[in-house]
Formats: sequence, C-alpha cells, structure tokens
Amino acid sequence: MSTLREPDSKGALSLEELFEQICRHSDIVENAGKIFQVAHRIDCTVDDLRAAVQVDPVLAAHIVRRINSAYYNLSKPVHDLKQAMSVLGFYDLRNLTLVSVAARFLDQHLSATTINRSLLWQHSLGVAAASHLLARIACRGNPAEVFAAGVIHDIGYALLDLYHRRFFQRVMAKRDPREPLYETERQILGFDHAELAARLAEAWHLPTPVVEAIRYHHIPEQYLGPHRESVYVLNVANYFCSRGGWTSLSGVAVVPPPDCAYAGLGLDSLALSIFWDEFPGVLERSLLLAEA
Ligand SMILES: [Fe+2]
Ligand SMILES: [Fe+2]
Repeated sequence: MSTLREPDSKGALSLEELFEQICRHSDIVENAGKIFQVAHRIDCTVDDLRAAVQVDPVLAAHIVRRINSAYYNLSKPVHDLKQAMSVLGFYDLRNLTLVSVAARFLDQHLSATTINRSLLWQHSLGVAAASHLLARIACRGNPAEVFAAGVIHDIGYALLDLYHRRFFQRVMAKRDPREPLYETERQILGFDHAELAARLAEAWHLPTPVVEAIRYHHIPEQYLGPHRESVYVLNVANYFCSRGGWTSLSGVAVVPPPDCAYAGLGLDSLALSIFWDEFPGVLERSLLLAEA
C-alpha cells in the first residue's frame, strides 16, 4: 500500500517508528492490550473479561456509567460490572470496553484547529452503529465485530495529531475536497490513518476481521483475504455516514464504495430500503452512546 513520498515528507517517521513512539509515550496501548488479549482467548468467559477490566477501576467506572446512560435505557441502574454482566453479553461488554478505552484516549489533548473531537467521536460511533445495522440486514460479517471496527476505524487521525502533529498538519494543509485524504497521507507520511489504526487494533489483539476491515476501509477493492464481508460493511457504512453529514474531518472527500462492495454485501433495493428506514434512528441512538 506504499506510495512514492513527496519532498515535504523528509523526516517523517515510518509506521513502525511512529507506533513505537506511541507505545513509549502512552500506556493505553499496553493496558488496553492486556484486556483485549484476555478477550481474544477462545475460552474467555464474561467473568474472565470482567476480571481483566476491573484491574483498571477508572475504566470499570466509565463502563458502568455508560451502561446507565440513556443509550441502554435500563429500568434500574446497575452499580458494578458484575451487575452489568446480567445486562450485557460477552461481545457487548467487549465492545463497551473498547468504546470506553477509545473515549478516554480521545479525551487527551487534540489540536482544536486540526481535529474536532466531537465530530470524530460522533462519526466513529455512527459508523459503528451503521456497520452493525448493515451487517444484520445484509447477513454479511459479524455485527459485533464490525461495530468494534467502526469504533476505532479513524482513530489513526487522533494518533497522528497527537504523536506526529507537524506532518499531520502538512497533510491537512494539503487536503483537497476533490481528492481522498488517504492519498495525501501516503504521499507525505508513507502510510495512512487506516493503517495506523489497524496497527493499534493488532496490538490490542482485536480479531483479524476487525483489523482488516479497519486497514482497508478506504480501499476495499484491494483486499483479497477471507474477511471481505467485514471490509465491505465498514467501507459502505463509512460512506453512508459521511454522505449523511456525519464526517470525521471537515473538508475531506468521501469516495463512493466500489461495485464489489455493494455486490459483495448483496444489497438489493429491498435491503437498502430497510437500511434507510432504520438508519436515522440508529444514528440518533449512537449519539446517546457518544455523549454518555
Ligand atoms: Fe478513514
Ligand atoms: Fe470514517
């Protein structure tokens, strides 16, 4: 996926160099990685996952707060993770952990001139919810996994802004609403935000379909592996949300999905009309989670 770099890329870090730097300066990669490594085990139970999360009391408190939000609309509040387990299954608890980890990460200082935190976060959860809906309607991909992919698919923008700001600002200065931003990123950085987010998902031991969907969410036609359905779901959901005004960054081109993505999802007019019926309600609900 590499592209010939431009002269103003001089001094930019490679993907691995940048990722090493992120790991050195932030404990979020290692700490969250330990939790998702437990979750990744084939024999992991909800109890094992709860025990892993409880090592971080602040994270546990964030999860309980979100379970008590309007998004879940519980009749009685829950007070701890043990009670929460009676409400959430394994995948929902893992995804809510991911939402809480990502939200905490985004609460670090992002440069207000480059990234609007609310915009990025609402887009991320909107794409997560839309991916879940699309996977359910099309019966393609695993709804819980594509939701997880949606939550962090654009977190690479925040990583670039926090840890490689000078070069990210060059990318943003060169953005052109007629050109896909990932091409400008590759010209200047040698990689793009999707590859960086996929690297993080890999370090967090998230399932392979999640990692691949994130890595290829702008270039699904280049993905030739076994997880095409997840890649296509995320690509189409990202496009529908962005076209609907839920963009991650302003002034950035949104490329329509290639034919292979629509065909691979088997989206006929009936499936699409069900999707468009449910989409506004699903987006509204994702806002409740974004604001929780
Ligand atoms: Fe993206
Ligand atoms: Fe996106």
